[in-house]
Amino acid sequence: MTAEQDPIKVMKQEVGKAAAARVQSGAIVGLGTGSTTAYAIEYLGQRIKSGELKDILGIPTSFQASVLAKQYGIPLTTLDEVDHIDIAIDGADEVDPQKNLIKGGGAAHTREKVVDALADLFIVVVDSSKLVDKLGSTFLLPVEVIPMAMTPVMRAIEKLGGKPELRMGVKKAGPVITDQGNMVIDVKFDSIDHPAELEKTLNNIPGVLENGLFVGVTDIVLVGEVKDGQPSV
Ligand code: 5RP
Repeated sequence: MTAEQDPIKVMKQEVGKAAAARVQSGAIVGLGTGSTTAYAIEYLGQRIKSGELKDILGIPTSFQASVLAKQYGIPLTTLDEVDHIDIAIDGADEVDPQKNLIKGGGAAHTREKVVDALADLFIVVVDSSKLVDKLGSTFLLPVEVIPMAMTPVMRAIEKLGGKPELRMGVKKAGPVITDQGNMVIDVKFDSIDHPAELEKTLNNIPGVLENGLFVGVTDIVLVGEVKDGQPSV
């Protein structure tokens, strides 16, 4: 690693590459969303181009992932065309010691949960800054909400002790709109003590499509680190 390189970027690159290296020919691969998974998609494309990896089919978790996959030459399919997913690679905003996650920093957690939960092997790729003792300690919890239900959902979340904020887009010109045409609220909870329970409680509020708690879904967490100036996974 050179002095000019951003260590977080290097960690993301290394961990993305390490995850892509685990994909075998013939696999149906869930393609996650975000800057770390973008490196995995890029390296998968390189392995396909070099002929090392054959007969791969990708299932993107977002419009962004599908654009990247096409750019790097990964053939795509849909959940209607396949009966399983061999492996999914996806990033996370927080990872706790039980491998539970907060996701949705890129507003893609609804499709991500569908794809990641279906995979026989779900690999999470993060840099070491994402590791936390308790979920919710550094990142707000994203919740995707149907627009007409925004106000009652916010009230219901406040009753649960959360502080919800509508996520705004670039330059705060308008709300972030998901691939499903919905909005995202980011919720601060003082403490997420029972993530499995909270995941279900939030999804039970009418108008909530999906929240960013991923409990009991992760198989492997690959963590990118930089020690003594050297990147490792
Ligand atoms: C998108 C996500 C991303 O995986 C998460 O935000 C991590 O992104 P990055 O790899 O850019 O840090 O959940 O909805």
